Amino acid sequence: MKLVHTIDDLRAALRPYHSPALVPTMGNLHDGHLELVRTAKPLGDVTVTSVFVNRLQFAPHEDFDTYPRTLEADCRKLESVGCDVVFAPSEKEMYPEPQGFKVTPPTELADILEGHFRPGFFTGVCTVVMKLFQCAFSEAKGERFAVFGKKDYQQQMVIRNMVKQFALPITIVGSETQRAPDGLALSSRNGYLSEAERAEAVQLSLALRALGRDALAAADGLERHLPELERRAMEGLAARGWQPDYLTVRRRADLQAPKAGDPLVVLGAARLGKTRLIDNFEI
Ligand code: PAF
Repeated sequence: MKLVHTIDDLRAALRPYHSPALVPTMGNLHDGHLELVRTAKPLGDVTVTSVFVNRLQFAPHEDFDTYPRTLEADCRKLESVGCDVVFAPSEKEMYPEPQGFKVTPPTELADILEGHFRPGFFTGVCTVVMKLFQCAFSEAKGERFAVFGKKDYQQQMVIRNMVKQFALPITIVGSETQRAPDGLALSSRNGYLSEAERAEAVQLSLALRALGRDALAAADGLERHLPELERRAMEGLAARGWQPDYLTVRRRADLQAPKAGDPLVVLGAARLGKTRLIDNFEI
């Protein structure tokens, strides 16, 4: 496995190949990330994982400075699942000057849910992902792949739309959410949880599953009953000491409010102590 830190070295490492499969990450890797790499492996003829904590997607009060940087351990894990190239640029390499040009996704997709609670988040994500695509795919002659986790459901949808609207010749592949034995979705931020919080953390997934069941049971009355079901789900978590941002049922196609018969996804984000967790289930 090759570790490179500059865009030039990445391009040189990828030049002999035709069809790269890219896994963008911010490092501090867990088995959920390794599953992205396992998904990427059979897609192209070289698998490249980027490890870069992207300042642009963090608000000033968020955890950019304390986000764990664990490159050595990350490389060992990546090697164990057969990653070929790790691209770990410095901030100066990715943003040698302030990034004035940005990719701003449309408000109807990017200013709801995560984007509502984390203003600017998806602009930061799209900007770095677009740049990572330029770094990883500029030498490719064959099909290009990029793998994103379904845990970040809205992020994956925003990126799919970006790729479509910019006619980028890249196939986006979704990878299933990996879960701990109790059902908690694997996330780098789980590492922030105290022992007691870790035991409680699965309640977000349980609340989402219960909300999903209630939504399906509401059937034709979905539109009428949903606000009350969502309110009850949020109150249930709040009563356990969480601070929920949203627990909601949306239609899968565009994450807008659903009508009866739409394919649905239930999504949620809530803070437990200082840690903000997200999860979702297609129902
Ligand atoms: O999902 C993440 O880890 C990040 O948002 C991504 C896609 C690597 C962009 O920084």
